[in-house]
Amino acid sequence: MVIEQGGIAAVVAEAREKLAACRDEPELERWHTEFLGRKAGKLNALTRSVGTLPPDQRRAAGIAANAANRELEQAYEARAENFRRARLETSIAEGKLDVTLPGRRPQIGRLHPVTQTLRDLLAALTDLGFQVAEGPEIETDYYNFEMLRIPQDHPARDMWDTLWLDPLTEGRRPLLLRTHTSPNQIRVMEQRQPPIRIAVPGKCYRFEAVDASHEWQLTQIEGLAVDEGITLADLKGTLGELARRMFGSERQVMLRHAYFPFVEPGVEMAVDCFVCGGTGCGLCKGTGWIEILGAGMVHPEVLSGVGYDPVRYTGFAWGLGVERVAMLRYGIDDIRHFYGNDLRFLEQF
Ligand code: PHE
Repeated sequence: MVIEQGGIAAVVAEAREKLAACRDEPELERWHTEFLGRKAGKLNALTRSVGTLPPDQRRAAGIAANAANRELEQAYEARAENFRRARLETSIAEGKLDVTLPGRRPQIGRLHPVTQTLRDLLAALTDLGFQVAEGPEIETDYYNFEMLRIPQDHPARDMWDTLWLDPLTEGRRPLLLRTHTSPNQIRVMEQRQPPIRIAVPGKCYRFEAVDASHEWQLTQIEGLAVDEGITLADLKGTLGELARRMFGSERQVMLRHAYFPFVEPGVEMAVDCFVCGGTGCGLCKGTGWIEILGAGMVHPEVLSGVGYDPVRYTGFAWGLGVERVAMLRYGIDDIRHFYGNDLRFLEQF
């Protein structure tokens, strides 16, 4: 197209007419390309041809072309804005909220029954004057066994089938997953002087066959009290109080002799089986009792091993199975439920 007298006015008039006829945004875009498009737009073609005019007409034609361009761009913007506003209004009208509809209930997570039981036990123990002291899950043979009077090749090692992390190479300190929380007794006593009253919560691991009352991963709470004049009566009183707080006073609790190399005398505490009521069943293995902890008076050699004077100081210790306590509290007849990750089970707590 070549610029000529009235040419710009004619294009503007045509553009205005067609703009008024645009019915939607795609049509508006096509209009923009037709008239204002950089390459093939009609107005641009005219503007480019300003240079072909005789020199005395170029300035006026250039000014007219620029004014026309500005005018059409503004008209386009105004129209585009109209379409945008209309689109917003329809989407608001369509998406109208009915505030009288009932809300959606948020999914709320909950604490694992073992965590709940662990927290309740620790709350009871802090009430009784015990301080929480955590220790590492990866341990050395030294803390997990040797300092607890279980030397290499001692038959009592069979009580704790161990998951070793390192090959037992000569000269290398073997690492293992702790089989109980007792190693932290030693770690704490090495660093503090009596009086000591601590509770050690944490996971333990055993290379063990799994059944209704045994898992290869378990949670324990170790207790340790060392002071002048502590006796077995203090142990009995403390554990009795803990059991009352956990199970109420109706439940029967029994203390009987048991062997652990790091205590003398050693005991274990059992609670009457909630499944059979004491007559014997699969869960309690026919005994009528469910063991929940091992305990005893800290062996004098354990005390002297950490540099305490075993004549002046005595102490008691226990290691309690948190899953067992949770089973008794909630009436769960199989320990394998805890780590089966079945939501149908977990959602009940
Ligand atoms: N550590 C022992 C176990 O896990 C339990 C225990 C702790 C026994 C403290 C006596 C004293 O089997």
